[in-house]
Amino acid sequence: MTEREHGLRGAIITGWGKCVPPAVLTNADLETVADTSDEWITTRTGIKERRISHVEVSDLSAVAAQRALAAAGLAATAIDLIIVATCTPDRVVPSAAARVQAKIGATAAAAMDLNAACSGFLFALSTADQMIRAGGAHRVLIIGAEKLSYFLDFTNRATCALFGDGAGAVVLEESDEPGGLLAFELGSDGTAGDLLCIPGSGTEENPLRSMLPTILMEGPEVFRRAVTLMGDASTRVIARAGLEMSDIALLIPHQANVRIIDATARRLDLDPKRVFVNIASYGNTSAATIPIALAEALEEGRIAPGAVVVFAAFGGGFTWAAVAYRWGSRVTPLGTSDAELPPSTASALELLAPNLELHGRGI
Ligand code: ACO
Repeated sequence: MTEREHGLRGAIITGWGKCVPPAVLTNADLETVADTSDEWITTRTGIKERRISHVEVSDLSAVAAQRALAAAGLAATAIDLIIVATCTPDRVVPSAAARVQAKIGATAAAAMDLNAACSGFLFALSTADQMIRAGGAHRVLIIGAEKLSYFLDFTNRATCALFGDGAGAVVLEESDEPGGLLAFELGSDGTAGDLLCIPGSGTEENPLRSMLPTILMEGPEVFRRAVTLMGDASTRVIARAGLEMSDIALLIPHQANVRIIDATARRLDLDPKRVFVNIASYGNTSAATIPIALAEALEEGRIAPGAVVVFAAFGGGFTWAAVAYRWGSRVTPLGTSDAELPPSTASALELLAPNLELHGRGI
């Protein structure tokens, strides 16, 4: 038996990339369609703008994936598994991952979607890591991608300012290099599913099919649980990895609300300088926040070779996850990709016109 078949090899991230659609929806734009203000959104969430996609999740995913593959120096045909973490796939069938496989020509890859809402990327990363360690895969493309704008009522101020569209991707490869996932925790509490949900988005009773599936959320309770779960799960994975808080070079948390991130950092007694925050530019892109943030942290030189990074997330389900990860020796991409989305000059409000019409506020 080979070493891999014994499950002795580790896995490290060798490529990373992001794709955000071009149309920017500012807080000032939202002021024109909902009873809200830039001042409220900025002070209560830290969000200044978010992106609205003119394409589907598999399109955003395919571009992020091609950028991650170029960074890893790999052809798409080298990938043997694609996991797309998303709760907003183009269609229920085929999976977004299968569409990505076709779009990038990853002919040797099995493809599947994984839905753990905003925790999905960390669920997928941990699953891929275990697959590689068990010898079931060699090189996995892991994508977090969402088009949450589809499930928002942009006239509802309780949710319209919080979410955005985008995708991020990594390549996880089997490797003997030191590093990789040191510890992970995945958790779910299905009894709290109604705290954050999209009723009418599946096959459940909706006889007249009259219900518009939109995100519903008990914001303050989600907030409270998020801080506790992200903080405590991070503490546990750091301990399980045999590390101290002082060993953590960077925390990359799910970007849902800057006040949740600040409160989590305080709970961990972590210097804000060691916390990555980009929520002002994209809002909450659900499963995509962490891979987008990771790509930007690397671009900005925030991760050194061998550095320990902790990722933490929470989301609908209710779900949560934390991962302690030691970076490998390479923090720069091997190559770049010229993959781009199909061009669009539509403004965010133009793209949202059908949504506003549906929700009774044509512009
Ligand atoms: N603009 C203006 N006023 C607003 C807005 C808005 N966009 N949203 C709410 N308000 C008002 C409310 O109506 C309320 O007014 P009232 O006092 O007259 O009733 C007031 O502001 C306070 O409302 P709260 O809900 O108590 O405000 P809070 O400070 O808790 O902030 C928020 C709300 C931003 C939703 C916060 O609770 C939060 O971030 N929660 C977590 C949300 C989250 O992380 N969701 C993503 C989960 S991940 C996933 O799986 C998709």
